[in-house]
Amino acid sequence: MNILALLKARFQPVLESMSEDVGPLLEMIRPAGDPKFGDYQANFAMGLAKKVGKNPRELASEIVAATQLEDLCESPEVAGPGFINLKLRDDWLQAQLAAAQIDPRVGVEKAAEPKTYIVDYSSPNVAKPMHVGHIRSTVIGDSLCRTLKFLGHTAISDNHLGDWGTQFGMIIYGYKNFIDQEAYKKAPVPELSRIYRVVRGLMDYFDAKSALPKLIEKLAERTAEYETAKNAPETSDKAEAKKQKKEVGRLQSQVKELNEEIKTTKKKIAKTEDSPQLAKLAEEHSGIASAVLQETAKLHSGNDENIALWKEVLPFCEDEIKRVYERLNVTFDHQLGESFYHDRLAAVVEDFEKRGLATESEGATCVFLDGFKAPMIIRKRDGAFLYSTTDLATIAYRMETWKPDAILYVVDFRQGDHFDKLFAATRLWGYTDIELKHVSFGTVMGDDGKPFKTRSGDTVGLDGLLDEAVSRAYKIVQDASAAGGDTLEDAQQKSVAETVGIAALKYGDLSQNRESDYKFSYDKMLALNGNTSTYMQYAYARVQSIFRRGEIDIAALRDSGAKITLEHPAERQLALAILRFSEALDDVLVDYRPNYLTNYLFDQLAKSYSGFFENCPVLKAESDELKNSRLLLCDLTARVIQQGLGLLGIQTVEKM
Ligand code: ARG
Repeated sequence: MNILALLKARFQPVLESMSEDVGPLLEMIRPAGDPKFGDYQANFAMGLAKKVGKNPRELASEIVAATQLEDLCESPEVAGPGFINLKLRDDWLQAQLAAAQIDPRVGVEKAAEPKTYIVDYSSPNVAKPMHVGHIRSTVIGDSLCRTLKFLGHTAISDNHLGDWGTQFGMIIYGYKNFIDQEAYKKAPVPELSRIYRVVRGLMDYFDAKSALPKLIEKLAERTAEYETAKNAPETSDKAEAKKQKKEVGRLQSQVKELNEEIKTTKKKIAKTEDSPQLAKLAEEHSGIASAVLQETAKLHSGNDENIALWKEVLPFCEDEIKRVYERLNVTFDHQLGESFYHDRLAAVVEDFEKRGLATESEGATCVFLDGFKAPMIIRKRDGAFLYSTTDLATIAYRMETWKPDAILYVVDFRQGDHFDKLFAATRLWGYTDIELKHVSFGTVMGDDGKPFKTRSGDTVGLDGLLDEAVSRAYKIVQDASAAGGDTLEDAQQKSVAETVGIAALKYGDLSQNRESDYKFSYDKMLALNGNTSTYMQYAYARVQSIFRRGEIDIAALRDSGAKITLEHPAERQLALAILRFSEALDDVLVDYRPNYLTNYLFDQLAKSYSGFFENCPVLKAESDELKNSRLLLCDLTARVIQQGLGLLGIQTVEKM
């Protein structure tokens, strides 16, 4: 049962008799911002009155009189210029709670019109170690799949691995030049990451070398412009003077930024040149950039040796990411990487050409799209296909295979332009009847406000990140136990710490507005107070401890016919929060935002629960009936927390 949907359904026929376009009117039925105005408010009368030429207050009363509400609401109140205030009846709320009490879905119904979604997420470029950036796509995508499935949709998860790109050219070059066979035989993955890093390091060095003179030149230009702007004769025109000042400021910050960039570029160069060993290596591999491209091209054109090497190392890379997914408790229905589409790419380009949708431009095959400055290139001059070509082939395959209603791409915001073009090209290609959505997300930042890096400036490996979160969680669990919380054996403490630590990372990410950058902080994520998984897990464990202390068989109580009664306002508020779980899940799916669920869990459910807990004794309630009613409210709270966290991919613990 979904209260908001139910209210909308009640008003809908009445509104339809007055207006053609009721969608926006229904959107104006919302939870009340202030309990003074009841539980929900309908604000459509003012706008509608104008259209139909009536007095808004009268119209509101007319609509209320014509709508069947008495079984749900106390008699609705028309307030101010025509607001309709709706207060749900306590007996109706009690009936809904009684139904939720014995419903494994805690009262959440499945979607009336289930759809098929493909969710493309995680999708790392393998052969490089997974890093902090991969956590976002992985946990957001996983949570969306879980939520879609819970609501009765078909969600097909597909990990579109980057298993065919330049990074394999790098690994192959590294393998041919730097591999330590003995180390590789003993432990292939660390040796492969080592050679990847050697090649990456060399390529970065040459990139930095070639970038430096250009940066210096740019700095000189900007500095000159800055000097000129700064020394420009003063003008008496105020607006002009303001503009000048702004320009000086802009140039000054550009100069500052360029200086910073030059500093880091020089540092990168020095790192190699200051080490005789690395300097020698660089000298021997001065052609590495083009050699890597050649190895990649040879792989793509089916060169036996490179294909054999690729087949040899790929399983190791896959095992490596599998280990991370196991720890994160994330699974995929499919893992069709870029390589899977390799021999479909030529046909995609041909099809675009055949339909007259592609144009030859400077030897490359391009798709020109309305509203975009640059075309989408689908075949390079040298005949190579691109990331875009693969994505087009992937869409065609997914359409043929699963006929989805929607494809969601949970990918970094920096690929926004790619997806805008991809979606436009897909429509042009003839796939018009599908929702294509870039579920875009921002960057994980460090304390310094720059992308999160280790002290030495490397990107932070995902494994290390998980280890650190778990070891900090272990400390918290130990402290809690020492401070008189639940008593746990050490082995139990360790397993609770694994659950709590990983949960903190996930929740810390999922509770952010996905489009914003956020600052990574273990302390914040693991805090026992505030909007964290630790707090939510703690709330769950507290409820279980009430049951243990009172020796309550809660499952039996649920089925016993005992009922929840709402007497105290704090009980009513908690009840309403519990029953609004379904609305929160709908909100998540409107624009694919898991933070609507974390907000609900914390701001509505957990806060109402604290209010209840402070005001309403449970085990010491005045009567057995009241005690049972409150135990059942505790139970529903815990079950919604458990289900809600479950949809975020987070487990609860019985004790902590
Ligand atoms: N492998 C890509 C990367 O790491 C992300 C792939 C996203 N999915 C897609 N269908 N393009 O940047």
